[in-house]
Amino acid sequence: MDLKDLRTFAEKNFIPILRENTEKVLIDILKKENPKTVLEIGTAVGYSGSIILKNSQCYLTTIEIDENRFAFAKNLFKENNFTDRVNQILGDANEILKNLNKKFDLIFLDGPKGQYLKQLPYLYNLLSDNGTLFADNIYYHGWVKGNDYPTHKHRTAILRLRAFIEECKNKFPNIQLLDDGDGILIAKK
Ligand SMILES: C[S@@+](CC[C@H](N)C(=O)[O-])C[C@H]1O[C@@H](n2cnc3c(N)ncnc32)[C@H](O)[C@@H]1O
Repeated sequence: MDLKDLRTFAEKNFIPILRENTEKVLIDILKKENPKTVLEIGTAVGYSGSIILKNSQCYLTTIEIDENRFAFAKNLFKENNFTDRVNQILGDANEILKNLNKKFDLIFLDGPKGQYLKQLPYLYNLLSDNGTLFADNIYYHGWVKGNDYPTHKHRTAILRLRAFIEECKNKFPNIQLLDDGDGILIAKK
């Protein structure tokens, strides 16, 4: 399946994938940084992973908790001859991050938004010197920037995302907050 068809498939099946303008920003970062190793949290069906593999020479490690999505992505990577450049891990990123022991030049953070803050110390340690953290959906439908909360259900995630942004400002010497897509944080170690 080509990436255009995959986007249509994901939209039809309510599988959240990289927004088109976020994709452009990610491609710019890949071209600029030319990472050799990339870690992705949240493979979903392999859309963003394919973008990463297509637009760099990197070796990708990608984590997904959902078995069906993991299997779908596995097929896609195989179909596109990416298998040699991918380590797909099935499981809960919160657990897996604790046991990874290599360094990554770029981390694409796109798993559960309420967990970004908890995952940050692990991600920071896994980043190479000069490595880049690229976190998607940091404004979470714009709610993180506003003062009100749409429903009680989202309140915790919004508060945690605000704390995540503040913590990144403390930890990283260089951070950018972009309005593209659903909000992007790019931080350089
Ligand atoms: C926004 S989607 C990822 C989209 C994908 N990066 C793309 O742009 O093509 C988030 C994914 O994170 C997965 N996920 C949720 N909780 C997770 C966890 N604890 N560990 C790993 N993956 C998780 C979901 O199943 C979902 O597929």
